[in-house]
Amino acid sequence: MPSALFSPLEIRGVRLRNRVGVSPMCQYACGPDGLATPWHLVHLGARAAGGAGLVVAEATAVAPGARISPADLGLWSQAHADALRPVVDFISAQGAVAGVQLAHAGRKGSTQAPWVGRKAIPLDAGGWEVQAPSALPFSADAALPREMGEGEIARAIADFAEGARWAAMAGFRYVELHLAHGYLAHQFLSPLANRRQDRWGGDFDGRTRFAREVVRAVRAALPAGMVLAARLSMTDWVEGSWGPDDAVRLAGLLGADGADLVVCSSGAIVPGAQPPQGPGMQIPFAARVRREAGIAAGAVGGITEPGQAQAIVAEGQADLVFLARGMLKDPNWALHAAEALGAQAPWPRPYARAVARPLRPAAG
Ligand SMILES: Cc1cc2nc3c(=O)[nH]c(=O)nc-3n(C[C@H](O)[C@H](O)[C@H](O)COP(=O)(O)O)c2cc1C
Repeated sequence: MPSALFSPLEIRGVRLRNRVGVSPMCQYACGPDGLATPWHLVHLGARAAGGAGLVVAEATAVAPGARISPADLGLWSQAHADALRPVVDFISAQGAVAGVQLAHAGRKGSTQAPWVGRKAIPLDAGGWEVQAPSALPFSADAALPREMGEGEIARAIADFAEGARWAAMAGFRYVELHLAHGYLAHQFLSPLANRRQDRWGGDFDGRTRFAREVVRAVRAALPAGMVLAARLSMTDWVEGSWGPDDAVRLAGLLGADGADLVVCSSGAIVPGAQPPQGPGMQIPFAARVRREAGIAAGAVGGITEPGQAQAIVAEGQADLVFLARGMLKDPNWALHAAEALGAQAPWPRPYARAVARPLRPAAG
């Protein structure tokens, strides 16, 4: 029987050779200019050569003030697009689709990289003013954000659209909007971060307005034949706050606004929330989106085993799976999974002798 995981998937005319995606992962590998470095080429390129169908570059800031840290990747000028072009070309040459996650950190911005300490960087030490829906800091260690005015909200939406134009210029075929993990769009969605009384806050319609405007603006900015995905935190993991019913409803609306796919993640809006642990604990969210929201769903979180990934797709819980830590451990995860599942996935030709069977003593 053909493998569900290794069957192709076509979205908006873009063909993925299989249903294995490399989840976006911040690398904190840039200088303060936000330009891609050889690290990005090697990190993303290795996973494309490792058989994944889709390789998504990390949360990439749409403006200098949208960065999480000074070492974030950015995409707000021709120079940023030019620096990413060789990465895109290499991924594509390996037969994978190149994607990028566009992001705005909001109140989680101006922060040190995790291994430096993840604390707020003061203005006089290279930090920047952070903006958010409301003047509520993420944590005691985070910067105090300034409440965004109408003009700043419009600017942030326009920055996402501009980022999408640069993504297309760089050659990406897949753009994912980071509407999750407590960053700016999620700050608008969650009543824990959004206390506004104007049209950008309050009820469901007000709090979802920013995310929906971003999706509409980005879809309008993208040329035809590009996949637009949205990553959502499906719950805040806080009783009475943003939850799966809201997120499933929003997923359907984002589909109508121009999104093709919702990647179902969770949490990270407040530091104290306690998500349940366990393999695949976010997968039921993807299944609900796929079943109830009328849009394709991506599953992510705790997916490590080929059989598990295969079952998620075969049972119709998601259209594709994304792996993060599993891909850090093994850049060839997709090739190894194909072997384990008896599916076809081509090793890069120069590596063919590593998998030739029976393995004869190497010569020459
Ligand atoms: C090193 C690292 C960096 C990450 N950076 C991002 C990011 O830039 N954007 C994002 O949406 N998620 C990010 N995540 C979360 C992953 O994409 C993924 O959702 C999460 O790790 C769960 O998947 P896993 O169990 O396969 O690791 C990051 C995770 C890791 C481990």
